[in-house]
Amino acid sequence: MRLKHCHNFHDFRKLAKRRLPSPIFNYIDGAADDEVTYRRNTESFETCDLVPNVLTGVEDIDMSVTVMGQKLDMPIYCSPTALQRLFHHDGERAVAAAAAKYGTMFGVSSLGTVSLAEIRKKHNNPQVYQFYYHKDRGLNRAMMESAKEAGVEIMMLTVDSITGGNRERDLRTGFSIPFRLTISGMLQFAIKPMWGINYVTHAKFSLPQLDQHVYMSDGPLSIGRYFTEMLDPSMTWYDVAEMVKQWDGQFCLKGIMSVEDARKAVDIGCTGIILSNHGGRQLDGSRSPFDQLAEIVDAVGDKIDVIMDSGVQRGTHVLKALSLGAKAVGGGRFYLYPLAAAGQPGVERALELMRTEIERGMRLMGCKSVNDLSSSNLRFR
Ligand code: FNR
Ligand code: LAC
Repeated sequence: MRLKHCHNFHDFRKLAKRRLPSPIFNYIDGAADDEVTYRRNTESFETCDLVPNVLTGVEDIDMSVTVMGQKLDMPIYCSPTALQRLFHHDGERAVAAAAAKYGTMFGVSSLGTVSLAEIRKKHNNPQVYQFYYHKDRGLNRAMMESAKEAGVEIMMLTVDSITGGNRERDLRTGFSIPFRLTISGMLQFAIKPMWGINYVTHAKFSLPQLDQHVYMSDGPLSIGRYFTEMLDPSMTWYDVAEMVKQWDGQFCLKGIMSVEDARKAVDIGCTGIILSNHGGRQLDGSRSPFDQLAEIVDAVGDKIDVIMDSGVQRGTHVLKALSLGAKAVGGGRFYLYPLAAAGQPGVERALELMRTEIERGMRLMGCKSVNDLSSSNLRFR
């Protein structure tokens, strides 16, 4: 299969699986425990149906949205994800360039493999810095200062990863960072030679957001161990309120699920919340963000920008979330499989397909702009 034969999420996933060594594919593709939440995330979009209005004059479609003060040309953005240069040697560079071309937002992870300052310098589209709160408070302050200096627009603190999720696929494959060539890794290398050649002939793997500030042990570190050993489980609302003050700009929390927490986020001065269960990778059995969306919008939608991610695969999923009052929607795997499959052209194709699906969906729904979508366009079964 070639890129031009990829017409949807599932096609990209298949191509990514073919190109990547299996521990890396399973790191992207996997989730926690029995992966119930992971499956539910997408299924929940099928619990309701769109109700279109017709004959509204839909030759011109405007799908732009404004979220946390940033104008996005399309309502879906590339949520921050770790380790992208493992998936394709261009990693974040490819994703950021594609996001810039489509005028949408791009997030750099604390575990990103390209520096946020480099990406910030190269592109003008809004940029998010995804922050993990480390035990070392000095490190936290230094990381925030570097992001501020680089000119990043939005600070996004992930709050659903206070400890590592139980990713059994990673336990089975022994996936760790830096990716180690164990005996079984060597075998994968032989099976997927193009990935292997690219991995060794491009810049050495690194984690620039952290390398500057912490000594990363030479030994392999599993994602679970990173969370457990380096992140601060004692973090509370008080600490976050301090961070919001220090940042003094657009600040959102990623991984809010309850109404109570959404209200607290408003109280401490956050400008956005992302309803998310980390793509099912953390607490298995947790509710899907789409199922929880209406309740949260109802409680705080007039005080803070409500965004959601997890499980989004189709333009119509985006339209359903917007109908319930989300200001924008984030996605991870929808651009990660394309990245792994084909680098920047892959991510561009994924964004193009999304843009086309959203535009077509809006026309068929009789909506000229995102503001035309409302809960009257949705019926739950
Ligand atoms: C993630 N996600 C994530 N989130 C975050 O806050 N920091 C991170 O470093 C990462 N890393 C990461 C790696 C990989 C491989 C995946 C799949 C996900 C979560 C991500 O930002 C987003 O919340 C989910 O991917 C959304 O679910 P979908 O769209 O993948 O279903
Ligand atoms: C993950 C991280 C790093 O989901 O957030 O793997």
